[in-house]
Amino acid sequence: MAEPLIYDGEFVARLTENAGLAPFSGGIFVPTMGGLHEGHLELVRAAKSLGRPVVVSVFVNPDQFNDQDDFEGYPRRFDVDAGLAESAGADVVWCPAQQDIYPVEVEVPTPELPSVATRPGLEDAHRPGHFAGVARVVQRLFDLVQPEVAVFGEKDWQQLQLVQAIVDRDGGPRIHAVPTSREPDGLARSSRNERLSDVSRPKARAVYLALQAAAAANHPSTAEKMMQETLESHGLEVEYAVVRSSTGLRPVDDFSRPSRALVAAWLDGVRLIDNLSMPVWT
Ligand code: PAJ
Repeated sequence: MAEPLIYDGEFVARLTENAGLAPFSGGIFVPTMGGLHEGHLELVRAAKSLGRPVVVSVFVNPDQFNDQDDFEGYPRRFDVDAGLAESAGADVVWCPAQQDIYPVEVEVPTPELPSVATRPGLEDAHRPGHFAGVARVVQRLFDLVQPEVAVFGEKDWQQLQLVQAIVDRDGGPRIHAVPTSREPDGLARSSRNERLSDVSRPKARAVYLALQAAAAANHPSTAEKMMQETLESHGLEVEYAVVRSSTGLRPVDDFSRPSRALVAAWLDGVRLIDNLSMPVWT
């Protein structure tokens, strides 16, 4: 297998000089913050299956962290990540420097946030400033890489809807969504799971149990009650456990249209988020 090409600032310089004629314009792009796990690798494999060159970026974006400890504790192991991404099919693993993404001499704009990133009262309410940081870095990365397709995970459902809404409004790559990758007990894979102690790790499966209970309920309000009870009975502290319309994340009265159960809860100082599609009752 060929060595992965690892570019730093030089790659960005070439991309910007060529302004759209970049070597990877037309390719498939998988943006990440590193700490790669099987969930990320599913995205890379899905990208590879689309049959075009695949660029994986690894950039821990300071802008989207509203907790300094979370930012500082975030895993940074670029060499390991590059090897994992390559083994899953990445043609380029790009680890830009802060100066590449936010050059001091360039004003990098923040796209106007669509209502799905400001109104639902979910991640938007509990992580103020987070989506502004996500929107800004994702737009910047798209501008530099100029991909034809960008791959995102369903794990971060509200983020996925935010990115989709921005490209629907402003143009950009086609968004390819990949289902959430889970541990055998159902826990959604996340770099933050590593922070769970041996005692709390088994309790974390309550998140998926709660989502499954919601999917078996006959009404959204019952689903919400069951999620709350399941999470609390396993000792998790609930931030939200709701059923919302799938794309706009608005409250729903029944299961007649596509909807999603979404959960954020704390366990042992670790914030877990997850979501699941609800069956549509016709
Ligand atoms: P990060 O948390 O590294 O996630 C990168 C991508 O992997 C996102 O699209 C995320 O939804 C997806 N992902 C993470 N865990 C997953 C899982 N268990 N199953 C499926 N997909 C999963 O999300 C970000 O980084 C950042 O906000 C980013 C978009 C890179 C902007 O900085």
